[in-house]
Amino acid sequence: MVNPETQSKAEYWEKHYTQRHREIDSVGLAKSLDYSNERVQFQTYSHMLEGAGVLTNKNVLDAGCGWGNFSIILYGIGAIVTGIDIISGTVEELRKHRPFITWQSVDISNEEQCATLGMYDCITATEVLQYVDFAATINLLWPHVAPSGRLVGCVPNRDCPLAQSAMQRFAHLWEPVSQDSIASLAQTLPDVQEIMMKGLYFREDQHFLPYQASDWVTQLEGTPNRIVFVILRGSE
Ligand SMILES: C[S@@+](CC[C@H](N)C(=O)[O-])C[C@H]1O[C@@H](n2cnc3c(N)ncnc32)[C@H](O)[C@@H]1O
Repeated sequence: MVNPETQSKAEYWEKHYTQRHREIDSVGLAKSLDYSNERVQFQTYSHMLEGAGVLTNKNVLDAGCGWGNFSIILYGIGAIVTGIDIISGTVEELRKHRPFITWQSVDISNEEQCATLGMYDCITATEVLQYVDFAATINLLWPHVAPSGRLVGCVPNRDCPLAQSAMQRFAHLWEPVSQDSIASLAQTLPDVQEIMMKGLYFREDQHFLPYQASDWVTQLEGTPNRIVFVILRGSE
C-alpha cells in the first residue's frame, strides 16, 4: 500500500517504475512496464494506433512516454515524435539512446510546463491519465492539439471492479476514469468535433488475445477494463 503522506508522485515513479522496468528486450524495447503482461501492453498500443489514425509526417506528442515503447512505434510508422515524461532520468537515457525522437521532461499536470509545449496533430496518453487529475490535465493538453487533430488516451475504467480494487491499494496515486467523466469533460472543451470510445474487455479464454475490443462508439456497454478514447478537434 502506498502511503500518500510520505511518498510524492515523482518518488513513486522513480521507485516503482523507472528502476523496476529497466530491462530491455532483444529488439531494444523496455519490457512490460505496468501492464499486466506484454500481450496486454501491445494490444493496448494497437487500439491506440487505430484511434490515432494516419500519422505519416504528423507531429505527435506521446505524453507520459515512460521508456518510450509507444513513441518508438509512432516513429516507426512515420510520425515526428516528441516523448515527454515526469521522470528526467528516463528522458536523459532516451535522449542518448533514441536520438531520432525529441525527449523532454515535462509534468503533464503542471500548467507552466505544459504551456511550453508546441502544437501537435495528435497527442497520445497511454496509461498515464490515471496518475494525474484527469480533467485538469486534459484541459492543459487540449490547447496543444492542432485543428483537425486528435487527443487519444487509454485509461482504466473506474466502473470496473478490478480497477476499483487497485484504486484502494494505490490511494490517491491511481484514479481510474469513467466513460461518463470522459464524455462530460469533452463537452466542456472548445472545438470538439466528436468523441469516440472503445472498450477493452478481458476475454475469458485469453489464448488468442487478452482483450475483446468493442467497436468505436459514443456509449460503451457493460464494464470494460480499459477505455480507449479519441477526442477529435474541428478544422476551424
Ligand atoms: C504506466 S507508464 C506508461 C508508459 C507509456 N505511456 C506506455 O504506455 O508504455 C506511466 C508513465 O507516466 C509517467 N507519468 C506519471 N505521471 C506523470 C506526469 N504528471 N507527467 C508526465 N508523465 C507522468 C510515468 O513516469 C510513467 O513513465
